[in-house]
Amino acid sequence: MIKQAIIPLAGLGTRLLPLTSIFPKELLPINGVPGIEYIIDECIEAGIKEIIFIISKKKNLIKKYFYQDKIYKDFLAKKKNPRVNNHYKKILKNRKMIKFVYQNKPLGTGDAVLKAYKFIKDKYFLMLLPDDLIFKENCSKAMIKIHKKFNSSVMASMSVDKDSVSRWGIYKFKKKLSKTDYLISDVVEKPNKKNAPSNKAVIGRYILPKSIFSKLLALKPGKSGEIHITDAIRLLINQNEKFIAHNFSGKYLDCGTMSGYIKSNLEISKL
Ligand code: G1P
Repeated sequence: MIKQAIIPLAGLGTRLLPLTSIFPKELLPINGVPGIEYIIDECIEAGIKEIIFIISKKKNLIKKYFYQDKIYKDFLAKKKNPRVNNHYKKILKNRKMIKFVYQNKPLGTGDAVLKAYKFIKDKYFLMLLPDDLIFKENCSKAMIKIHKKFNSSVMASMSVDKDSVSRWGIYKFKKKLSKTDYLISDVVEKPNKKNAPSNKAVIGRYILPKSIFSKLLALKPGKSGEIHITDAIRLLINQNEKFIAHNFSGKYLDCGTMSGYIKSNLEISKL
């Protein structure tokens, strides 16, 4: 059973400047709802019971968002507004399952995951990158099914334009297991077009084994001085840990870049 999820939220969000100079990107609205709420909904629907938020002092607004009781209580005491009331109830319910852990230096996704080390109880856990929103299919739920079927680690994937491979983790597969699932033989973080092993990209949903922590501990900073989760996954694959890529069927929205964020707001209103 996969019961815990880690969400790295300490990144600076520089690709979304100036919007993120003060405001955490995960609280930016997507169709009137902070992006992070879609990610929480996905986790809950997939059966997750505890979510570990990796934040930083700079991103304390995320914690405040869930503990902003006074403004709701004062407002709801004066006005009965069902929309606000229901949303407040949802926030109260969701915060019970969130644990806040701090990563005060933005040293990458791998370093963020490492901060949750002592809280992970089971052999596998889910990790979601909040820049990546997936609609119309609960990608985490689908991946948990695959994990159960193959007793393996799983990553979400999608084919991307060859010219954009340097934006993603790119993997190579050794076997096609089904119409949507591939057994991975290697993965590289943001390769250049010349060295990319394929045009199959890793998207921000991962089912990872607890054994990844020892790999993360041993890693030296990679590209841009960060510890990348992709590099630790690569080490595990080299030691024959089974990693499956799941080509999800949902609609992908990239909210981590300015053009992607603007496009996401337009696209979601059409869904
Ligand atoms: C991260 C991962 C990358 C993955 C991407 C998906 O990159 O490091 O491997 O393909 O998310 O969105 P980032 O978006 O943090 O640059």
